[in-house]
Amino acid sequence: MSEGLAEQKIGFLGCGAMARALCGGLVAGGVPKAHLRGSDPNPSQRENFADSLGIETTGDNEVLVASSDIVVLCTKPGLVAEAIGALPETLRTEPRLWISIAAGIRLSALEQSLGTPSRIIRVMPNTPALVGQGASVFCPNASANESDRAAAESLLAWVGTTWEAPNEEMLDAVTGLSGSGPAYVFLFLEALAEAGQKQGLPREAADALAFQTVLGAARLAIESELSPAELRAQVSSPGGTTVAGLAELDRAGFRDAVDRAVTAATHRSRELGE
Ligand SMILES: NC(=O)c1ccc[n+]([C@@H]2O[C@H](COP(=O)([O-])OP(=O)(O)OC[C@H]3O[C@@H](n4cnc5c(N)ncnc54)[C@H](OP(=O)(O)O)[C@@H]3O)[C@@H](O)[C@H]2O)c1
Repeated sequence: MSEGLAEQKIGFLGCGAMARALCGGLVAGGVPKAHLRGSDPNPSQRENFADSLGIETTGDNEVLVASSDIVVLCTKPGLVAEAIGALPETLRTEPRLWISIAAGIRLSALEQSLGTPSRIIRVMPNTPALVGQGASVFCPNASANESDRAAAESLLAWVGTTWEAPNEEMLDAVTGLSGSGPAYVFLFLEALAEAGQKQGLPREAADALAFQTVLGAARLAIESELSPAELRAQVSSPGGTTVAGLAELDRAGFRDAVDRAVTAATHRSRELGE
């Protein structure tokens, strides 16, 4: 059973891809299905959620919120204020924990929508959560308590790793790194596999080799006591093939390009939150 979530009724407001991933993690973690529920105005999203997870759904957000100790806000960011605003005031102000995964929606904006000193935790997940390999960061508001933190932490731990940011400002950098990061890695995978094909490999083999190389290198970096720089040095014999390849990445400004990508995405996240 997930620590901090044992007796809680958890409602997912919005039954899209991220809600399915998070709710699926809780089911895998042993949270009783009767404690979980989803709401969505879209019947096909409800059906998908119910069929894939075996969880009850409703088309009525009021029903969901009224029956939940924790509400996980999983709509697109632009719809969060509207969805909260459509709830009757009593439901907005009753004591419960609100967890928002909406990118760029600040705690102050959520506090304003809910209207009272509510217990809120803002989360920045990423898409690998869909396969239980997410990297999520969370940040509680001043009203959230220790058991709220523990609940958010165990919810996120079921779909990957999680870290509590010491302040909300860091969530922009988190968005620039791990939120947008899967797309940078997908671009690298495309480039790596295409380059392999250009050197004569069949497409399927090039894809499989590229995917497994990135997965394996990341696993090695996680499990090894050596830093990525030391691991790189280990496979770079003078005059060898890897050194020849790395020299080209250096000449092309690879490190600087990654730095500029994270900087641009961090700035964009800051702009969107203003
Ligand atoms: N996917 C990611 O990589 C990622 C990463 C970090 C954070 N996030 C955040 O996660 C949130 C959800 O993303 P997602 O990819 O799961 O989006 P999604 O698949 O579009 O899911 C959102 C769901 O909310 C439904 N919805 C719309 N209005 C609603 C309302 N008033 N009440 C209840 N449900 C409503 C949508 O229905 P319709 O289909 O009819 O619109 C849809 O089923 C977003 O805020 C996003 O910023 C996502």
